[in-house]
Amino acid sequence: MKLGVNIDHIAVLREAREINDPNPLDALGICKLAGADQITIHLREDRRHIHDEDAKNIINLSALPVNLECSINDEIIKIACELKPHRVTLVPENRAEVTTEGGLDVKGNFEQIKKVVRLLHKNEIEVSLFIDPCEEMIKLSKELKCEWIELHTGSFANIYAMLFSGLDRTHHSIKQLELSRDELTKKLKKSIREIKKYSKLAREIGLKVAAGHGLNYQNVELITTIKEIEELNIGQSIIARSVFAGLEKAIIDIKELIK
Ligand code: PXP
Repeated sequence: MKLGVNIDHIAVLREAREINDPNPLDALGICKLAGADQITIHLREDRRHIHDEDAKNIINLSALPVNLECSINDEIIKIACELKPHRVTLVPENRAEVTTEGGLDVKGNFEQIKKVVRLLHKNEIEVSLFIDPCEEMIKLSKELKCEWIELHTGSFANIYAMLFSGLDRTHHSIKQLELSRDELTKKLKKSIREIKKYSKLAREIGLKVAAGHGLNYQNVELITTIKEIEELNIGQSIIARSVFAGLEKAIIDIKELIK
């Protein structure tokens, strides 16, 4: 299982002061040395962390393949086509959200996504769709000739956090569920079963499967039991640990857990 390190949160820290430090570009060499397989960045419409110049420099200078997450907005897609990252992962975007809250509605945006996928393929960029574990979205992703899907693990991570970490703040703003430990355990098992089932389905119809969102040093082990998943994209937990342990150690630790 490969690891894509999402370095957006280095830019989040920089933007807290609106200065030039820390520079996400400085992470590239460390990620490579520590054993990351891919750099992932999200160029958001509101440019709240990664800016166009960051994306350009990261894509031009990274020795690792770069996975650019972005919305299906025409202006952003034009930039992606110019930058030519190795892969574009299309994600839903809503300006009010703290982070991506759910998978892409491939059905509701079918025609726009079709146009975008064609454009990206014309520019020799492979395409992934960030979707919820759901049969319909997987089949539509295949119909759209995407090479990859990335399964949204946010609800799995939320259930895990409620069950084991006793946290009342979950990874994104789904409503806090008032559930007993038994009910949460059942929900967690169901969530893992579904991620497994849909990863398998995606592989069977010829899609490559990545997963991400809310994965961390505690919950990643359960996800690594799903052999059909080829790649994990992890950001927040790695950058959080790197504040105390350093980025290199934070990546080595998560790689070790994945192994
Ligand atoms: N994958 C996708 C498609 C994402 O949008 C994000 C968040 O930017 C991640 C993975 C990483 O999520 P996290 O920061 O919670 O690890």
